[in-house]
Amino acid sequence: MRILVTGGCGFIGANFLLKKVQQFSDSQFLNLDALTYAGNPLSLRDIESAPNYQFAHVDLADYESVRQIVSEFKPDVIVHFAAETHVDRSLKSPLSFLRSNVDGTTHLLEAARECWDGNYAGKVFMHVSTDEVYGELGHTGKFHEELPYRPSSPYSASKAASDHMVNAWFKSFGLPTKITNCSNNYGPLQFPEKLIPLMIRNASTGKPLPVYGDGSNVRDWLYVGDHVEAIWQVMEKGKLGETYCIGGESERTNLDVVKAICRSVSELMNQPMESLERLITFVTDRPGHDFRYAIDTSKIKSELGWQPTVTFEEGLHQTVKWYLENPGWIDSVTSGEYLRWVEEHYGATEHA
Ligand code: DAU
Repeated sequence: MRILVTGGCGFIGANFLLKKVQQFSDSQFLNLDALTYAGNPLSLRDIESAPNYQFAHVDLADYESVRQIVSEFKPDVIVHFAAETHVDRSLKSPLSFLRSNVDGTTHLLEAARECWDGNYAGKVFMHVSTDEVYGELGHTGKFHEELPYRPSSPYSASKAASDHMVNAWFKSFGLPTKITNCSNNYGPLQFPEKLIPLMIRNASTGKPLPVYGDGSNVRDWLYVGDHVEAIWQVMEKGKLGETYCIGGESERTNLDVVKAICRSVSELMNQPMESLERLITFVTDRPGHDFRYAIDTSKIKSELGWQPTVTFEEGLHQTVKWYLENPGWIDSVTSGEYLRWVEEHYGATEHA
């Protein structure tokens, strides 16, 4: 099988999926990545010399390059992760989200359509999307596949638009597509702008832990390994033209997550819990901050037999341990543009 993965250097799930290079030595993998601020080739060091792995530095917004590489590689499967993913960044500069997420996805769909030219047997275009397309929940209820889209941020609106493009290519051209909408991922190798790695980094270096609002917003945390297994099962067994919601069944308030990180850092670094918790700083809330996300996983469970296997406590502890043991990786992604972003976003370098 020839598998084209987009966003393998920056997107935590894509990165994890590419570890399958070793497991599926008969398959050829091509990783397309634009190497933007969050992309770090170092994250793929353990597979980069595998004979069945190739990397191509391609920006999906550049249609000609996308067409060319897709027609050369001739994939059977495309797993499309690449996207601008950070909500806070989309509030500061929304246009780049349209370029990457909407134009980028549309270019890849068109390139696949041209390459496959109606010969769709054994072909799949997997589009990895987000639960944020469904908007926000109150204290009760869960997101599921039948809900209408109600995105709140430029990021989630751009992902919603990309999902619509994928569905349009399925309905209009018969392109063999499948969509997954997942909840918040976490695990090793996640860029430290997201809540969990940002807090681990700051807690372990004695910096403030900036909690938006009162910390009562709720997210459903999905361990990256469970996410990738779900994507793989949808790819192998999911129905064409369908959507599958993927969640970790681990709802936590942000404040609880930050306290759990403090607990793990305290244990692993042998530091008093109170001194870490004192770093928690309540800061101005994110504009339009969705209150709660939660996923009803009935469809993927009953149709494909997938379910999350890693508890939040176990996954978080492993994640904290990985970050503490890999300061070199963090240093490599936290220079230059990253520092400028932190300074601009948080208004002070102390969070970096
Ligand atoms: O639900 C899936 C989505 O999860 C993905 O589609 C997005 O790409 C991904 O970024 C994530 O979106 P969130 O906005 O939920 O993730 P983030 O890590 O930015 O924030 C998680 C929660 O923590 C959110 O309620 C905002 C809060 N937060 C975040 C940061 C960075 C803080 O309180 N302080 C912070 O410094």
